[in-house]
Amino acid sequence: MRAIDSLSTVIRNESVNDEYKHMVVKVDRAAATVAPGQFFNLLCPQSESDKPFFRRPMSTYFADPVSGQVEFLYKVVGTGTRTLAELKSGDILPILGPLGKGFVLKDHYKHILIIGRGVGLATLAPLAEAAADRKITVTAILSARDREHLMSQHRFTNIYANVIEIIDTDNSSSMHNLEKLTLDLYNQQPFDAIFTCGSTRITKLLQQLVIDLDIDGQVAVEQQMACGVGMCYCCVKPFQLNNENKKMVSKRVCIDGPVFDIREFAL
Ligand SMILES: Cc1cc2nc3c(=O)[nH]c(=O)nc-3n(C[C@H](O)[C@H](O)[C@H](O)COP(=O)(O)OP(=O)(O)OC[C@H]3O[C@@H](n4cnc5c(N)ncnc54)[C@H](O)[C@@H]3O)c2cc1C
Ligand code: FES
Repeated sequence: MRAIDSLSTVIRNESVNDEYKHMVVKVDRAAATVAPGQFFNLLCPQSESDKPFFRRPMSTYFADPVSGQVEFLYKVVGTGTRTLAELKSGDILPILGPLGKGFVLKDHYKHILIIGRGVGLATLAPLAEAAADRKITVTAILSARDREHLMSQHRFTNIYANVIEIIDTDNSSSMHNLEKLTLDLYNQQPFDAIFTCGSTRITKLLQQLVIDLDIDGQVAVEQQMACGVGMCYCCVKPFQLNNENKKMVSKRVCIDGPVFDIREFAL
């Protein structure tokens, strides 16, 4: 899947709740051939008050190579996403992608566990659908601050995933509860791999669990980026190689990832 620098046209850009928006754009159909976990680098527009300069990375929430539609689910947090939120139907948005290395579904996987928090669910929903296409059973734990900020449940229930919702307000999302829940689920029906995105705390917990259970784990890492194509080294992070010497190495999240073996996750 070659990255294409294209001018997309905004079809819809609507609020999902008080923090998140869902944007649908139309692109060159070749650019809409995207693997789960890959992302686009969006050239957010400039407004009177906000002048984003670099592009902003955004995971593909949905992509259809037949219609050329690509969707993003994003949280409005700063300069770039604020101007993105102002885009209206018919506006032009330059987007570069698909970029990066996505999730890998190995042939022997029969059952996977997906655990996402907040906007991490945007990255994980296409993975659940790709797994279902391959007849892999999906269990999904969706985590959020409160019920109002739980999102994308339909994307998981539509593929008949076993969906469990956990939230901060009743403490069901605490690391202690999540660890117990994950182990209980594993004992009921062992999974071959765990996939996560959206929380460093959850990633650290799952890193230990995949080591203890001796199963695979993959994490989609969020990191500030500029070029998105490996040229500027702005997205370098330390990783610990998953081999005997456990050497620490620097990797560029944009082209070495954003999806990594969870055992390599260091910070
Ligand atoms: C591969 C990848 C996929 C992503 N997918 C999504 C997605 O699907 N939906 C979504 O809402 N967000 C996603 N993000 C995060 C998104 O890129 C940032 O929220 C966005 O760039 C912030 O831009 P801003 O100008 O609005 O905020 P800024 O004004 O630049 O920053 C506001 C706050 O966000 C933090 N921030 C800035 N850039 C990033 C970043 N790249 N990752 C994490 N935190 C950042 C800053 O440290 C600051 O605290 C993704 C990031 C990566 C690397
Ligand atoms: S964002 Fe430029 S090298 Fe990764």
